[in-house]
Amino acid sequence: MALANRSLVTIDDLTNGEIEALFSLVDEMSDSIDRQSDICRGKVMASLFFEPSTRTRLSFEAAMQRLGGSVISAADASATSLAKGESIADMARVVGSYADIIVIRHPWEGAAKVAADYAGIPVINAGDGGHEHPTQTLCDLYTIKKERQTIKGLRIALWGDLKYGRTVHSLTYALARFGATILFRPGPGLELPEHVIRKLTTEYGGELNRYETLGQVVKEGLFPMDAIYITPSSPHQLAMMPDISIQVELKSGVDALYVTRLQKERLNATDEQQKKGKYPVINKKLLKEKEFKRTLVMHPLPRVDELAYELDADPRSMYFKQAARGVPVRMALIALLLGAKEVPVTEKDSFSRKIDYPCYRRGFGVKCSNPKCVSRQETETKYIKPQFKIVANQPLTLRCIYCEHEVHPGYIASSDWHEGRLSNKKYHSANSHWARKIRAENLIVFDSEIEAEACGFKPSSYTKMPKQKGQRKESRKK
Ligand code: NCD
Repeated sequence: MALANRSLVTIDDLTNGEIEALFSLVDEMSDSIDRQSDICRGKVMASLFFEPSTRTRLSFEAAMQRLGGSVISAADASATSLAKGESIADMARVVGSYADIIVIRHPWEGAAKVAADYAGIPVINAGDGGHEHPTQTLCDLYTIKKERQTIKGLRIALWGDLKYGRTVHSLTYALARFGATILFRPGPGLELPEHVIRKLTTEYGGELNRYETLGQVVKEGLFPMDAIYITPSSPHQLAMMPDISIQVELKSGVDALYVTRLQKERLNATDEQQKKGKYPVINKKLLKEKEFKRTLVMHPLPRVDELAYELDADPRSMYFKQAARGVPVRMALIALLLGAKEVPVTEKDSFSRKIDYPCYRRGFGVKCSNPKCVSRQETETKYIKPQFKIVANQPLTLRCIYCEHEVHPGYIASSDWHEGRLSNKKYHSANSHWARKIRAENLIVFDSEIEAEACGFKPSSYTKMPKQKGQRKESRKK
C-alpha cells in the first residue's frame, strides 16, 4: 500500500480502497493490541495540540506507545514559539527534524495543510478549526462498518452543529463517497456550509433536496430535516415525489443518528443571535419512535446537553465504542504512514477519483473570505500566497486550497492582453461571458473595480453587470 510518507489532512486524502485496507489492519491490531510493540520501535511522534483535546490526543499518544514508539508533545501554543510570532511553516520544519511523524490540532482552518507542506515528514490533521477532522471520521466509519458490515445504502442522520462541526464535514464526505444517504438536521442557524454542499453535489454526484421542497410531512413531522442528500448509488424516488417518498424514507428507519455538540467556541456574533431556537436533543423519549428502533446512536464526544446520560446503557449507544476504537484505528494509521506496515488496496468505485481543477495562484487580486483561514493570519501571510481551485465559472467560484471556503470575485481580466499593449488591458464583470472565455492560466481576478484599475486595467463594456447570488459586495477599501 502506497501510504508510506503521505499526510492525512482531509478525508479525501484517502481513497475508499485505502480506507477499507486500513480497516483490515485495524481489525488485525484490535485483536492483539498488546502485541504490537515492535512495529514502530525507535520512531518518534510529535503531538502538537493547540486546542483542547482529551480523546484525540490521548488515543494518538496511546497508539504510538502501543506501537513501541515514543511521543514528544506541545499542548499549548502559548508555551511554544508560536506565541513569539513564529509561523506554522517554521515550526513544522523544525519539528520535522526532531520527529518521524506529526499530529497537529490547531484553531486555524488549513493549518494542518501548511504543516504538511513544510514538515518534510507525514502530518496528520487532528482537527483544524471548523474545517475537518479526518481521523475522527475513520473511527466513526469503522464503528458503522463493524456494527452494520457495510456503509453503502445506509440511512445516516447528522444532527446538531453542521456548520462548525469539523467531524461532521469529514464524515459527510466519507459517507457520500461510500454511498450512504444522509439526512441533515441542523441546530438553529447551523446548516451545512455552502462549500460542503457543493462538494457533495458536484464531486460525489449527490442530489440534495432542501427542506422547503419536501412539503408539510417533514415540516410538521417528527423529523424536520433541513435537507436530504441522496447518493447516486442508491437512486430513489424522493426527488420526483417528495411528499410520498419522504414517508417511505422515514418508515424504513434510520441506521445511525450522529449528533454533535454546539461548537460554541467558533460562533460569531450572527450565530449568537440565531442560537435562540431549539438545538436537537437525543434522549430516551426520542429513541422510542419506531424510526429509531435499530438506530446506532453516535457522537464524537465531548457531549454537553444534546445527548442524554440515560442512554449510556442502551445497546444502541455507540459513542464510547467510537472513542475506544480510536486507539487501534490510529495505531493502524500511524504504522501505515510511517511505512512500518503495508496492506494491499483494491479500488472498487469511482468515488476514489479526485477532480483536477485548475489553480489560481497569483499573489494579488483576491483573498480567502474566511477570517479563520490560515492564509489570512498575520504570521502566515509573509510566506503564504492565497491559492484557489477554480471550481466553476458560472458564477465564477474559487475554492481556497487551505480552508476550502469559496469566493465569488466580482471582476476578471486576462493576463493575455493583446501583445502586451496596455491600451487593451480591460477588466470585465465576472458575470459576463468572459468568465468562460478566459483560459484558467490567464485568469486574473479582482474583488473590486478600484483594485482592477489600480493594476492598470480599464473597464470594458462588460464591466457593469448585475451581481449574482453569493457574489461579494464591492469593497471600497484597497
Ligand atoms: C470533536 C472535535 O474536537 O472536533 N471531538 C473529538 O475529537 N472527539 C468534537 C467536538 O469537540 O465537539
